[in-house]
Amino acid sequence: MNHKNKLIGIVLFSAITLSACSSNNGGMNSNMMSEEDSDQGMGGMNQGGMGSMMDHGNVPSLTSSEGLNDLAIPPLLEKQKDQDYDYEVVAQEGTTEFFKGVSTETYGYNGNLLGPTLKIEEGKKVDVKITNDLSEPTTFHWHGLEVASEIDGGPSDEIQPGESRIVTLEADQPAATLWYHPHVHEMTAEQVYRGLSGMLLIDSSDKEDPTIPNEYGVNDIPLIFQDRLFDEDKQLNYNQLMNEDGTLGDVSIVNGTVNPKLTITEPIMRFRLLNGSNARNYTFSLSNGASFTQIASDGSLLDEPVEIQELTLAASERAEILIDFSKLTAEESLAIINDEGVELLPFDVELDGSTVDSTEMWTTEEPFLSQEEKEMPVEKNIELFGMMDMVTINGKKFDADRIDLRQEQGVTEVWEVYNKKDMMGGMIHPFHIHGTQFKVISRDGKEVGLNEQGLKDSILVNPGEKVKILVTFPEKGVYVFHCHILEHEDNGMMGQIEIY
Ligand code: C2O
Ligand code: CU
Ligand code: CU
Repeated sequence: MNHKNKLIGIVLFSAITLSACSSNNGGMNSNMMSEEDSDQGMGGMNQGGMGSMMDHGNVPSLTSSEGLNDLAIPPLLEKQKDQDYDYEVVAQEGTTEFFKGVSTETYGYNGNLLGPTLKIEEGKKVDVKITNDLSEPTTFHWHGLEVASEIDGGPSDEIQPGESRIVTLEADQPAATLWYHPHVHEMTAEQVYRGLSGMLLIDSSDKEDPTIPNEYGVNDIPLIFQDRLFDEDKQLNYNQLMNEDGTLGDVSIVNGTVNPKLTITEPIMRFRLLNGSNARNYTFSLSNGASFTQIASDGSLLDEPVEIQELTLAASERAEILIDFSKLTAEESLAIINDEGVELLPFDVELDGSTVDSTEMWTTEEPFLSQEEKEMPVEKNIELFGMMDMVTINGKKFDADRIDLRQEQGVTEVWEVYNKKDMMGGMIHPFHIHGTQFKVISRDGKEVGLNEQGLKDSILVNPGEKVKILVTFPEKGVYVFHCHILEHEDNGMMGQIEIY
């Protein structure tokens, strides 16, 4: 998309010494402002409730981070030497010390919890050996990657305990923040809950790309936001703790770290935010109300970067943002907070002062959608409905032996996704499609804001809302589409499309 974009240089000077210490002021959230461009305004409301059939809105609050632990940064997955594959990812059991002196049983990829970050250059192919060292079946799904359905790792791609396979992943799509996780039918929620998730980055090799921070772990930081409920023994006892309508916890973890803090030493930081929770919606903002810049959606850079003060991500959605810490004054404590003012990630800002930094932003000449695209007729209707274990898509529950929809390879169609309200008012469903990155045309007939003008693979659909999206599948095969509240997915809020 960058070929049509004109680069504008913006030079940022910062000459003051800054030092803001993180502190614990949860609840200080008086000046959250919504902006015209962030039109996902329902975030945080209408989430999956805790058990009560009568009420969707009962969401347990998270606890503010006390900033006790340095944020863990998932390591980059290292390339294999002397092997006939490039990378290896092993799903395995382990233990994690979330709480001092307590060992919690967890799952992880190549480790105890979460997984290493797999980085693939745009346009390149890599062979990845995937191994299941768990004592139950799993799959390896590359969420957002437009791969052939045989290696997509959907529910029909089970790998049995002790088995391995080599898959070839091709990054034939723009640079983006994607992720990987298991997708075994009726076990996805539990396996993710126990810790299986990792980041998958497509790295741009396009020299025309704007210069945005890209030193992984230094000024380019992945942030996996999750909430967890622990039992009285501090275990992730899913069968006891789970909620059919989406399991919600009161403990916030970021990259698996409880009570995290991050020390900032570079003025401009790029964060890749992933809502990796089973069900919770997050509306992120900065504790001092400052704006930040969103540069990417799920599957690509935005058509144009956009200044925002809050950002909502439903489960499985991603966004990349830039925060310019040189603009934030010394006295303030600073954190990423949610819409309740809970400090999810406090920052310790330790800039040395005399830095001069330049970053380039881009603008676009062509509209995100052509007139022709906007006027295309709706070809497919998707109706999301229900709650708890009575969730359906177009009135049906998942059946691995049934094809629900068909679409021709490479042919673009408009899908209208309707979130039909129930008696209790309904709830947000994040709708996700495998094998494609789509464009959002409209919400209830209204054009979407700048922060949704980028490729996406998951879309937050508010209760009663109709969202039109423009969908093209580059590969043939059978893919699933589903609600990304993982318990809804496991309860059958999923269908299959055949691309011919
Ligand atoms: Cu994130 Cu069907 O998956
Ligand atoms: Cu997916
Ligand atoms: Cu749902």
